[in-house]
Amino acid sequence: MKQQHVLAATALLFTCFAHRANAQQLRLQPDNIDRIVQTMTLEEKAQLLVGGAQSLVPGAAGATQAITRLGIPQTILSDGPAGLRISPTRENDSNTYYATGFPVGTALASTWNTQLVEAVGKAIGEEVLQYGADVLLAPGMNLHRSPLCGRNFEYYSEDPIVTGLIATAYTKGVQSNGVGVSLKHFAVNSQETNRMGVDEIVSQRALRELYLKGFEMTVKNAHPWTIMSSYNRLNGSFTQESRELLTTILRDEWGFDGIVMTDWTGKRNTAAQIQAGNDLMEPGAPVQSEEIVAKVKSGELAIADVDLCVKRVLEYIVKTPRFKEYRYNNKPDLKAHAAITRNTATEGMVLLKNNNATLPLKGVKKIALFGITSYDFIAGGTGSGDVNKPYTIDLRQGLNGAGLEVTQSLEDLYLKYKAYQEARIAADRRPGGWFWGKAVLPEMSVSRNTINRQAQEAEVAVLTLGRQAGEGGDRKIDDDFNLTSVERQLLQDLCDAFHAAGKPVIVIINTGGVIETASWKALPDAILLAWQPGQEGGNSVADVLTGKENPSGKLTMTFPIAVMDHPSSLNFPLGNNDMRTNGKRKNVDYTLHQEDIYVGYRYFHTRNKEVSYPFGYGLSYTTFTYSKPAVKATADGFSATITVKNSGSVAGKEVVQLYVAAPEGGLEKPSCELKSFAKTRLLQPGEQETLTFKVSAYDLASFDEALQSWVSAKGKYTLQFGASVEDIRATALYNLAREGSWKAHDVLKPTMSLK
Ligand code: BGC
Repeated sequence: MKQQHVLAATALLFTCFAHRANAQQLRLQPDNIDRIVQTMTLEEKAQLLVGGAQSLVPGAAGATQAITRLGIPQTILSDGPAGLRISPTRENDSNTYYATGFPVGTALASTWNTQLVEAVGKAIGEEVLQYGADVLLAPGMNLHRSPLCGRNFEYYSEDPIVTGLIATAYTKGVQSNGVGVSLKHFAVNSQETNRMGVDEIVSQRALRELYLKGFEMTVKNAHPWTIMSSYNRLNGSFTQESRELLTTILRDEWGFDGIVMTDWTGKRNTAAQIQAGNDLMEPGAPVQSEEIVAKVKSGELAIADVDLCVKRVLEYIVKTPRFKEYRYNNKPDLKAHAAITRNTATEGMVLLKNNNATLPLKGVKKIALFGITSYDFIAGGTGSGDVNKPYTIDLRQGLNGAGLEVTQSLEDLYLKYKAYQEARIAADRRPGGWFWGKAVLPEMSVSRNTINRQAQEAEVAVLTLGRQAGEGGDRKIDDDFNLTSVERQLLQDLCDAFHAAGKPVIVIINTGGVIETASWKALPDAILLAWQPGQEGGNSVADVLTGKENPSGKLTMTFPIAVMDHPSSLNFPLGNNDMRTNGKRKNVDYTLHQEDIYVGYRYFHTRNKEVSYPFGYGLSYTTFTYSKPAVKATADGFSATITVKNSGSVAGKEVVQLYVAAPEGGLEKPSCELKSFAKTRLLQPGEQETLTFKVSAYDLASFDEALQSWVSAKGKYTLQFGASVEDIRATALYNLAREGSWKAHDVLKPTMSLK
């Protein structure tokens, strides 16, 4: 008997050892994911689906947790669109870890140059890889529904096709390094006011055609590793808990095969998030893992749902450099990337006005440089999209670098004022400073006497108007969208004095988003929209002012006459947030998209509403002629061509936009919609290039709610080749012989009336 006991105990011990040895040997491999899932305990699974702290890459926003017994490493997730956001310095380490501050999203998109954007993505991705991160939390792809959204600088456009094509290029570039992106914020995170609670109520059609379209294009064409579900609610549910959004549309319809992670939310209904197909909770707290375990045990959450998310997270992990034990060197080529940002920024700058060929400057030696922002240039926006860059070249430095002198007396005045304002602001700094970014210094009033003296001394006046915005707050109309009274006065006085002396005034707009221009644009001789152009900003502007570079950016959004002209302004938080329905605050607790599909130029152009600068607009130092519009049918749509010739006297690039006006009958549609665009290479004077645009019948389709299908009406489509939406240079006709129809799921219905 005793002997039997001993035998049984020995056998048990042996089995245990064998089990443990097996488990010890079992390590995650790309081809054993199912086995790993079977081997993991419930607690380990719950741990894998919830992010945790990390110290591998200081300053990175988040991480997935390691499970060392199974060879599952921690992976690192780091912001953000304009470059990698990590801490530039580390304790007890004399090395620095600066990342390049690239032009912001609006600036990148304004290049309309997908090759260039891909190159920028490649450079950013190299920094992700060499600094030891696995995923870049970018691109930001929300639509500019209103010019007042605080985060528009991170996003691309009021148009989904621009958004989709630019994000596709960016994603391909970043991911070419073997690291991932996270398309964000999925979806309809169109305002910062109460972004964690607001319920965005949108028609199914506007959702499909506008707010989801860019994501759809990027998912299908660039295969992003991850996507970030937004903070807000959409038609009644948190996007993070919406199975209709995260599974039915994203995976079943579009074929997304990566992971979904939450935006940096605290604990919500973790079980609902998993059931929806939200694989990873970030930044993660132990209480979320505990909830998963408890709910699986109580039967409220099926283990199959958990396993599916675990499997997907593991499929992501095996792709990462961390899993592959990539030996990063913490030495990305910052010098080469500074050159890329300098050039990219010039290509995204939009020349809004250039009377009498004021620009490029000719024979000018001395500039009177006005505007506090000239001496404190704004490279990028604030919040998680702010990169810890090594430096920002201000405009004064940029001009000096280009061999131009700025008047010393004015420079001294501004530098003194700047020091005073900085000391004042430092004294009452609010907590959480990094999040709000460096305050924009208030504009300085300059006396007429000083201005008159400058008009004698200098040959030209340059005035920079600066704007800053970012995560956590929307912009204001007064003193933000509109000019301040000090700015207005300064501009008026400058124009009076310099014009009286027969000298020009140039305005540089240094902003991440749209500002009012209609009331003052007649005053100066030239206006250059420099955006927030990244760390080389001052050099980039100087390159354009001197003519070293010919600006070729065009607007990816409308510049309206007034903010209130945008139909979305009727339903956007403007500070008047107290109207309540059933106890809920309009535009804070819920926002009705009553403008429906009429966002941006879709509204202004269809309704013939005057604007200050239309969508797609931008001047050049040269001119272009368009000829030989042509179209031919392809297997799934058409291919159109146009020949563009540089008819001016300096080299330049032209962006051609292809708008399409649909046949009569069928669904109501905007008067025209952008379907594609292309940019020429640098054309020398007299040189020409033929650009090709490929559009499929699916691209022509609109979403028919009655049929719950995408439908492209048969009949004649007018193709319009435009230098902007209001400057159509050539047209061609395309006949779609048969109606196209693509069935979709009837999901994400609005939960409130939009009438
Ligand atoms: C932002 C995201 C960002 C995340 C991590 C959130 O507050 O909305 O865009 O990626 O923080 O920093």
